[in-house]
This record gives sequence, C-alpha cells and structure tokens, in this order.
Amino acid sequence: MNIGLDSIAFSTSKYFFALENFAAHRGVAFEKYSNGIGQSKMSVFPPNEDIVTIAIDAAQKAVSKIEDASSIDLLIFATESSFDLSKAAGIYVHHFLNLREDCRVMEIKQACYSATAALQLAKAFVHQNPSSKVLVVGSDIVKYSPGSSGEPTQGGAAVAFVISADPRIMIIENGSGVHTNDIMDFWRPVSESEAIFDGKLSAYNYLKSLDISFARYLKKTNRTISDIDYVCFHAPFGKMARKGAQQIRWQKSIDDTLIYNSVIGNSCSASLYICLISLLDNGSDLANSRIGLYSYGSGSVAEYFSGIICEKYKSCITPEENRRILEDRHEISFEEYELFCRNQFPLESDTYENSGTFKLKAIENKRRVYLTA
Ligand code: HMG
Repeated sequence: MNIGLDSIAFSTSKYFFALENFAAHRGVAFEKYSNGIGQSKMSVFPPNEDIVTIAIDAAQKAVSKIEDASSIDLLIFATESSFDLSKAAGIYVHHFLNLREDCRVMEIKQACYSATAALQLAKAFVHQNPSSKVLVVGSDIVKYSPGSSGEPTQGGAAVAFVISADPRIMIIENGSGVHTNDIMDFWRPVSESEAIFDGKLSAYNYLKSLDISFARYLKKTNRTISDIDYVCFHAPFGKMARKGAQQIRWQKSIDDTLIYNSVIGNSCSASLYICLISLLDNGSDLANSRIGLYSYGSGSVAEYFSGIICEKYKSCITPEENRRILEDRHEISFEEYELFCRNQFPLESDTYENSGTFKLKAIENKRRVYLTA
C-alpha cells in the first residue's frame, strides 16, 4: 500500500522584518546575512498570533484540499514552542476545524525533528488503519535573545499535511537512516522563552548527523546518490542547507527548495516541509521524481528519508496562493520589531492583522481565548 502526503499547506505571520534594516541597526554588513547566512527577511509575530492561530490557518487550508475530512481520526501537533506542558495545542485545532469527536489528538516534541517524527508515526498508523487519514501540524515561532548570533535566523511558520493511503502528492518510501545523539547544541528549559544554543556546535552536529543518517539510508535502501533527483534539507538558514548539500557531495541546485525559507526564517518543525512546498511550487515537472529529505532536530535526532512525487501532484498544489501569502506581508520598522519581541502590548488591540481566521483574543485566568479575527 502506498502511503504519503495527500495535501499540504503553510501559514506564517502577516509581518516581516527585512534583514537589510536589521543589519543597519545591529551595525553588521548586510552581506553577512544575504550571502553568509542566506536569508533576506524574517517573519515576526504580533501578540495576537501564536503557534495555534497559524496552525489553524495552515490546517484549514490543508483539510480544505482533501475529499473526506471526516476520515481524519488522528491529529498530531508537532512543536518545540509549546506554551502548555499539559494540554496539547492540537486540541484547539481539533475544535476550530470541527474534527470528529473520536479523533485522537496529541502533541509531540523533538526540536525541529518533531514533524518528521509525526510523519513517520502517521504513516505507521495509516498502515494499520488504511481508511484513516492523519492530520499532522508542525508549528513553531523561533526566538533568540536580542544581539545573539541566532537573532538574524529567527522566524516562524506552521505547516499542515494530511497523510493517507493512495496519496496525491508524495508517497513516503520505506527505509530511512536515523541518528540520535545526546548533545547540548540547542535547548530551551521550561523557565525560558528564548532558546539557548551553541551555534558552532549545532552546525557541526547537523553535518555530522547528516553524514551518518545519509549513509544509513543508502545502506538500508540499497541505493546510491544518483538514485535521488532532488534533496530538501532542514533549513535553520539557507547557508546551513547549502553546507549540507556540500557535505554529501550533492551536485544539483537546491535553490528552488530555499525560496520560501529565505524570507520566512527558521520555522523549526515546519522548516523542512516549507522547503518541500517551495520545491513543489517552483521546481519544473517533478512527477515520479525521488525527493530526499533531511530532517534534523537539535539535542539531537536526525533522519534522512525519501518520497516519490505522484503523477498528478500539480493539481493538488497551490503555488500562486503560497506566493501571495509571502508577498502580502507587511514590513515593520526596527521600533515595531522591538515591540513585537517584547510582546507586551495589549492583546485586545486590533492594530495588527492575523494570518488566518482566528486570533488570540485574550489570556484570562491563564486560559487562552481564541476568537474569529
Ligand atoms: P555567526 O557566528 O554570527 O556567523 O552566526 P559567522 O561568523 O559564522 O558567519 C556566518 C557566515 O557569514 C560565515 O560563512 C562568514 O564567513 C560569513 P561560512 O564560513 O559559514 O561559509 N560572513 C560574511 N559573508 C559575506 N560578507 C560578510 C560576512 N561576514 C561574515 N561581510 C551561526 C552563525 C550559525 C552560529 C548563527 O546563525 C547561530 O548561532 N544560529 C542559531 C543556531 C543554528 O541555527 N544552528 C544551525 C544547525 S542546528 C539546527 O538546525 C537546529 C535548529 O533549527 C533548532 C532545532 O532543532 O530546534 C537551530
């Protein structure tokens, strides 16, 4: 039985901060960000937008593209920017999408790897339950402390995809290479709102884990690099993905995979799948191509796996709508950027637009209240 992606969509903030402006305020040459890091803009989020509101937006779009939403009986919410240690953020998505009452909901975490963990669990679930569909949402807003080396790589987005039998976009192949090692390269203790990281160690471990997981993938599947047509790499910033390509001696261009990430920034669990959407939207005819996917989550777990693009995938993707999401964003000033970072202005303010149809209206007695925007 073929199992894979039957629909896919993303959402991000209505606001971005241009790295050219950021560089001028931080006294850094813009070329360091454009060429050295490979980024030109980062999505920044007003206080009435959070991982739930963008997740609902992405999930509504992904679910609207499938035939039978009532067959979704598992929702997995993957995130590392969770605001609640008990209640799964996916419960809000389940509520506002009116999914079945007997649909299971859970949240999972392993840094940026979490949506890939969800994808593999979803695939196994559908294998056991062929008539089921699984909604996977990866949603993260990435914040580093002001002035840190990570600050220009902030960003955020949600991606949602439906995993089913007989998929219309991409079949997920059996056989992958996994590598797990205990390392303190990037982490966020429960008391902190911003991640703590060792940038150089994280880049080193990303590449080392790529070497190991890619070699395991090739061995397990009995393939060589020439059996792969395109590769998407987890992209905390574009240059990291390009270094990944160099590491495995990948000769073909990965430009089409990085178009959306370069103006969104790091979206952690969503990032690899934003690369995939970027490739689907901007690549030439990909039908029947094998796509290699490298997922890396600090801490760390890495997995290299692959998929085959379905014959009629073009009728299931929405490149114009996706480009519009990014083109219709508003640029903010440095002063607004600082305000957004502090996240202190009143939630009741309707000054800022939301990505989709829901907004975080208030936090009352530590309860989050979401309403139609
Ligand atoms: P840095 O230390 O400020 O930068 O930040 P740098 O000094 O290493 O310079 C970066 C590049 O710009 C270098 O190129 C410079 O030569 C170049 P490279 O040697 O790498 O090819 N450069 C210039 N180029 C043109 N004109 C100039 C110029 N100046 C310098 N004037 C660092 C880099 C990665 C450390 C930083 O962005 C960081 O700490 N980021 C956060 C951590 C991170 O993203 N790690 C990536 C791997 S870990 C991962 O992917 C997991 C993650 O997504 C989290 C999760 O799993 O949840 C982060």
